Amino acid sequence: MNLTDKIVKLKQEKKAVILAHNYQRPEIQDIADYIGDSIELSRKAMQEKEAEIIVFCAVDFMAESAAILNPTKKVLLPTLGARCPMAQMLTDEEIKRAKTQHPNAPVVLYVNTLASAKAQCDVCCTSANAVEVINSFDAETILFGPDRNLAEYVAEKTGKTLIPIPEYGFCPTHLLFQPEDVTVLKLQHPNAVVMVHPECSSEMRRVADFVGSTSKMCRYASESKAKEFIVGTEEGILHRLRKENPDKKFYVAYGDAVCPNMKLTTLDRLYASLKEEKYVVKVPENTARKARKSLERMFQVKA
Ligand code: 13P
Ligand code: SF4
Repeated sequence: MNLTDKIVKLKQEKKAVILAHNYQRPEIQDIADYIGDSIELSRKAMQEKEAEIIVFCAVDFMAESAAILNPTKKVLLPTLGARCPMAQMLTDEEIKRAKTQHPNAPVVLYVNTLASAKAQCDVCCTSANAVEVINSFDAETILFGPDRNLAEYVAEKTGKTLIPIPEYGFCPTHLLFQPEDVTVLKLQHPNAVVMVHPECSSEMRRVADFVGSTSKMCRYASESKAKEFIVGTEEGILHRLRKENPDKKFYVAYGDAVCPNMKLTTLDRLYASLKEEKYVVKVPENTARKARKSLERMFQVKA
């Protein structure tokens, strides 16, 4: 029996469901029961009824959200080291300091945060619903973290003042994209449409035809009449884009823009995770209760 068959067998025996983010390795995406962006995966985890185990092939904060939203399930993260560095950039102290300085400003946090940060905010958001979440407040000034680029993008879209916490939170992978690379690719593929993730710089957003979350990019590419696309986000998404659109061509805007954390999950590690039921994601109940409220409020916002 090959590794894939072993995983499928074990998954059935243990009543497990495999969720994978759009940046996962192709073989992980292919074996997953569900692939999506961070909001879709959170919703899926929250609504999961049948499975006893949720194996979350992604990074720490996504698996943590699943454990918070569906506390009766066993949530497994196949690799302990799969951590989002951006989520580590916002400390509890930073949030407390910002709240003291701006006591009347609501606090909106990107889901790319640790559970303890989520527990301190009014509501969470993802890149798929950040504009709608911000617009759900009457306040004109809002504390927003940790991604400064997303904060700038949402401020442009809503006309509100977003105070970034920390001052310069960023995704190291999306920071690698440069508009110069898009210019070169455009010379080679003049009809290509440019799609970028809002974690990219404002310079990248300016050369984009479409800005959106990973799954929004997938939808945009499928619905678009264009045949060629330059993609400004982690290269893992190219697998899904090509699979869903075999008649279209996709070029990553910078080939080395890889999220090493997302790539830590391999078939071997997924198998070991299922077999040994490791690594169980646990969030202290007091933190989980508060963080759940912030996540649930996000789901109440129409996007
Ligand atoms: P999405 O919600 O768009 O999938 O983004 C998650 C992420 O970590 C982007 O780097
Ligand atoms: Fe975090 Fe960036 Fe990786 Fe997304 S791509 S998980 S934001 S480091």
